Amino acid sequence: MQVKAAVAHVPGKMVIENVELAAPKATEVCVRILAAGVCHTDSAGLNAVVPVTFPAIFGHEGVGVVESVGVGVDTLAPGDRVILSFPSCGHCKYCIGGQPYACDELNRLFFDGSYKDGTRRFSKDGEDISSFFGQGSFADHVVVDARNAVKVDVSDEDLVKLCSLGCGVQTGAGAVLNTLVPRPGSTLAVFGCGGVGMAAIMAAKIRGCSRIFAVDVVPSRLELARECGATDLINGKEVDAVAAIKELTGGGCNYSVECTGVPMLINQALSCLCRLGRCCLVSVTGDAEVPIALEPQLMNPSVSLIGVTEGGANPQTFIPQLVHFFKEGRLPVDKLVKFYKFDDIDTAFEDSHAGVTIKPILLMD
Ligand SMILES: NC(=O)c1ccc[n+]([C@@H]2O[C@H](COP(=O)([O-])OP(=O)(O)OC[C@H]3O[C@@H](n4cnc5c(N)ncnc54)[C@H](O)[C@@H]3O)[C@@H](O)[C@H]2O)c1
Ligand SMILES: [Zn+2]
Ligand SMILES: [Zn+2]
Repeated sequence: MQVKAAVAHVPGKMVIENVELAAPKATEVCVRILAAGVCHTDSAGLNAVVPVTFPAIFGHEGVGVVESVGVGVDTLAPGDRVILSFPSCGHCKYCIGGQPYACDELNRLFFDGSYKDGTRRFSKDGEDISSFFGQGSFADHVVVDARNAVKVDVSDEDLVKLCSLGCGVQTGAGAVLNTLVPRPGSTLAVFGCGGVGMAAIMAAKIRGCSRIFAVDVVPSRLELARECGATDLINGKEVDAVAAIKELTGGGCNYSVECTGVPMLINQALSCLCRLGRCCLVSVTGDAEVPIALEPQLMNPSVSLIGVTEGGANPQTFIPQLVHFFKEGRLPVDKLVKFYKFDDIDTAFEDSHAGVTIKPILLMD
């Protein structure tokens, strides 16, 4: 079928045009996209910071309605509302063990743009086009594997606000709820109050942390962080964040999450911890070489540094939990979003880059 999509023929530039979309194969479904969030990893892909095969269609926070299903798909049916998330092979020992975020095929399935069988679904004039994260949801229809389409029970009005549950929110909330799992009453610092960091703050509140430090350099983001659950706001441009956290906690906090994408800040996220503290790194920083003083920062204070992809989540079980928290008013991700017409995709990317909008969402109609 012919679909409308934002195609990057070369790095750095997208053009909205008609392309061909193949029918779903076995284990796959075709989804009519209602909306798609813009994540920083889309920019990383568009600018070839991660290994993408061009031409490519970006977008990996799609939501929509199932239109048709491939042979053998028995978990989804036409008409189902779905949140699309990251792909995984389903066969490696990590996928079988319920840890698809550690899938052996992650790099190829996320970035290269091919599906599990190595082929692609979009094309134009006989040339294959990659689908970022097995989605390519900057398009009015996509084909995805049923593994990365999560059925949810929400109205269309809510569904379009929940795009980032598929990546950004899952990443930040999951770093806290799945990876760090803070004890109620403990203290936690979040570096970077973008979509990922705000979700980490909301999750820390859900876990009952007693002090939640929000560190950013943009005053309006810090104010919003308070609405999301932060108890202490720290402007990293004006004060020494590490000294402030150590003073306010009497020696350092128990947990930290690094969500700025600024490589050197990992040192602050480690240094603000007390002994036995644990830091979760979720930022995508390219291949920057960041010096970490292993003995004084990690070994001596018995501090752990944990890297995690996609919030250590199994989307099929974690996204419904996040939807439940949203319905209860405990995960107010609607505070982060601003809607854009699909045709204004370049403005949405610019506003995200400039820090004007935390979570731009493209509406396909
Ligand atoms: N691990 C994963 O699976 C995964 C998934 C999604 C996103 N990410 C990555 O997570 C990171 C955060 O994503 P996002 O969408 O929230 O990004 P964002 O750009 O919206 O947020 C980053 C925040 O950091 C703040 N910041 C910048 N410099 C700072 C400094 N010196 N001190 C304090 N704060 C500073 C910015 O003001 C901004 O609010 C990105 O690197 C993104 O690529 C990782
Ligand atoms: Zn796998
Ligand atoms: Zn993402």
